[in-house]
Amino acid sequence: MGNRVAGKVALVTGAASGLGKATAGRLAEEGAAVLVGDIRIDAAEEAAAAIVKDGGRARALKLDVSSEDDWIAAIAEGERAFGKVDVVVNNAGTADGTWVHKLTLERWRRIHAVNLDGVFLGIKHGAEAMKRAGGGSIVNISSVAGLVGIAEGAAAYCSSKGGVTLLTRAVALEFALLKTNIRVNSVHPGYMDTPMLQGVIAAYREPEAARQRLVAGAPLGRFGEPRDIANAVLYLASDESAFVTGTQLVVDGGHYAR
Ligand SMILES: NC(=O)c1ccc[n+]([C@@H]2O[C@H](COP(=O)([O-])OP(=O)(O)OC[C@H]3O[C@@H](n4cnc5c(N)ncnc54)[C@H](O)[C@@H]3O)[C@@H](O)[C@H]2O)c1
Repeated sequence: MGNRVAGKVALVTGAASGLGKATAGRLAEEGAAVLVGDIRIDAAEEAAAAIVKDGGRARALKLDVSSEDDWIAAIAEGERAFGKVDVVVNNAGTADGTWVHKLTLERWRRIHAVNLDGVFLGIKHGAEAMKRAGGGSIVNISSVAGLVGIAEGAAAYCSSKGGVTLLTRAVALEFALLKTNIRVNSVHPGYMDTPMLQGVIAAYREPEAARQRLVAGAPLGRFGEPRDIANAVLYLASDESAFVTGTQLVVDGGHYAR
């Protein structure tokens, strides 16, 4: 156990799986009390129990990030349980492999509801708690697909993640102007080995060929591990990044450099 975020209370969304789960675990290892938010409460409870078993402090929350009522309840529960919330990691997200000409308006709206509305609500309600706490750090998980266009069924995903990139920058400036002592940054993962990526690959007609092609396209020659993102979030959540706001931290094995 370290102490890089000792004394902080972090709410991580989509924390029952993949990058969110690794991030919640990493923040707890470094001393934060962690609220493990996910739409799947059973899986969130398992993830929180694993943190507690390892000596950390954690509590599971049922949180659908697209629901404002859920956000209000989650922040209140976090403050009741641990006294404050001063880190919010807006990680929950959903991907869709549908090509744009086959995408329904309903599906388009759902992807944006989770990936973009969810981040907006996390910023809005997280910031209220941070004002009560005297400040804080918001980390939004965008994607390399929020910086460049990706072909093959990623139009709604890119649109929503691009929204997260500029929402982050605008809000970082607004909060600086308002002297809130709240920093806002985004993290941009490349291809990371999680259930989401496995699902995307499985949807290809020839999944193994698709997997090999994606790995071959990565300058470092591999998919990232969830802990690679957890370490980036840890830095932005901690006071080590006290002078960092409105930035995009790309963690992608070199993909974006191309
Ligand atoms: N895996 C990658 O290659 C990759 C690359 C770039 C960005 N990302 C982004 O990283 C984030 C995490 O992705 P992951 O790969 O860990 O995915 P994942 O599918 O493994 O985990 C996502 C988690 O979010 C939860 N979730 C889904 N909808 C939700 C909602 N409405 N409210 C609350 N929780 C919800 C799921 O239950 C799940 O536990 C996402 O925002 C994703 O877009 C992932």
